[in-house]
Amino acid sequence: MKFEKNILCIGAGYVGGPTMAMIAYKCPRYKVTAVDINPERIGQWNSDNLPIFEPGLDKVVRACRGKNLFFSTEIERGIQEAEIIFVSVNTPTKTFGSGAGMAADLQYWEKTARQIRDCAHSRKIVVEKSTLPVKTSLAMERILTDANDRIHFDVLSNPEFLAEGTAIQDLETPDRVLIGSHETERALEAREALVQIYANWVPREKIITTNLWSSELSKLAANAFLAQRISSINSISALCEKTDADIAEVAKAIGMDSRIGEKFLRASVGFGGSCFKKDILNLVYLCRYYGLNEVAEFWEGVVRINDYQKSRFVLNMLNAMFNTLAGKRICLFGFAFKANTGDTRESPGIFIARELAEERAELVITDPEALENARVDLEDLGKDVSYLVDPYEAAEKSHAIAVITEWELYRALDYDRIYRSMTKPAFIFDGRNILDHRKLFEIGFNVFPIGKTPLTHF
Ligand SMILES: NC(=O)c1ccc[n+]([C@@H]2O[C@H](COP(=O)([O-])OP(=O)(O)OC[C@H]3O[C@@H](n4cnc5c(N)ncnc54)[C@H](O)[C@@H]3O)[C@@H](O)[C@H]2O)c1
Repeated sequence: MKFEKNILCIGAGYVGGPTMAMIAYKCPRYKVTAVDINPERIGQWNSDNLPIFEPGLDKVVRACRGKNLFFSTEIERGIQEAEIIFVSVNTPTKTFGSGAGMAADLQYWEKTARQIRDCAHSRKIVVEKSTLPVKTSLAMERILTDANDRIHFDVLSNPEFLAEGTAIQDLETPDRVLIGSHETERALEAREALVQIYANWVPREKIITTNLWSSELSKLAANAFLAQRISSINSISALCEKTDADIAEVAKAIGMDSRIGEKFLRASVGFGGSCFKKDILNLVYLCRYYGLNEVAEFWEGVVRINDYQKSRFVLNMLNAMFNTLAGKRICLFGFAFKANTGDTRESPGIFIARELAEERAELVITDPEALENARVDLEDLGKDVSYLVDPYEAAEKSHAIAVITEWELYRALDYDRIYRSMTKPAFIFDGRNILDHRKLFEIGFNVFPIGKTPLTHF
């Protein structure tokens, strides 16, 4: 079959894989290929056991894999054949040299730019899908055009706003698609080519176009705003615990103001995930670079409150359990950074497990999707941690349960049975406020929610 367009994505991770699957699903006339340097990952994309867990992803991949959706390690060939190349490689926080712990590590991204330049034989539209510091596309253009004057490259910015756990829904009905470009005739033509792809299923009024820098900065700013809401409500949760106010009631009262809105106002153990912290730190770094220290400090506060919230959770556990956790069995309900994903990158669970291990607690971790990643994250803790899929088994003989991830299944468990199997006095620390606290208290638990008065039997 002759395809109308040939699309490539370099980087088949949490963003590249689902995004390409959705384009292929919605556009059967296009050939879509996702390539990666990691052959194991590509092998999984080509198997029944996809490398990431995402509700609905299986169905989309199965519908088009082998027809117009392909996963491969042949990067060079992919570059040569494609007209449009998305770049969705990882851009973690730098861990070395200047800007360590703050700036984005652009080594993977730059390698990709050089590879595109070296392999391309014809005009390409290169689309930044990765989240990058503002002005990065300028560097990409310089790398691409240097020593390759024969070929014309257009660089577009098209940041991805999907959230893990709802990626398929977010890709299918996005709030908006953002495309940034230069204003030259050729750039506008390239931009229109990308608009046309999305217009196959996204209403035109939701596809917005801006200049390159606004597009790059909007992604960092959007993540900073989202994380800021979580830190805002979490900061108030600390005050609720001191004053007998109830964070759920406060959040409802605040959120009913239409200027504020109700979403992202759930107090919790803190945000995690590969993006929020990294993108805010990147924003902070950029502000400092441009001498905007007050702006940098404002956003840095969002990360500080998040760290504080995680520490506070562990300290509350320690205080509630008579100031010693040594030798006590503590069961973590959930390890993924949020529900409906197996991703544990920057999960509050990592920090909490480490702090508890530091207190010499014996840890049991249960999670329906994230145990494999948890094992890798906590490998150095060795045999002090056990991993069990069954939450009932995990809770057995524990002194305390700490809810780390808001998996729906934890609401529906038989807590009478769990209580009977635990060491007494039994504690529950609900780091997501998802359980029925009154009922747990009546069963016999000592219950410690976030931002609410604890319910204790002593
Ligand atoms: N995860 C999210 O929810 C999310 C949402 C929006 C945006 N983003 C951004 O998207 C980008 C990718 O994130 P992710 O979560 O998909 O990361 P990821 O680590 O899951 O995937 C990146 C992939 O790129 C591959 N890769 C790295 N260098 C390569 C190279 N030179 N050639 C080919 N493949 C290469 C890696 O092997 C990996 O499989 C990041 O910039 C991130 O900030 C992520």
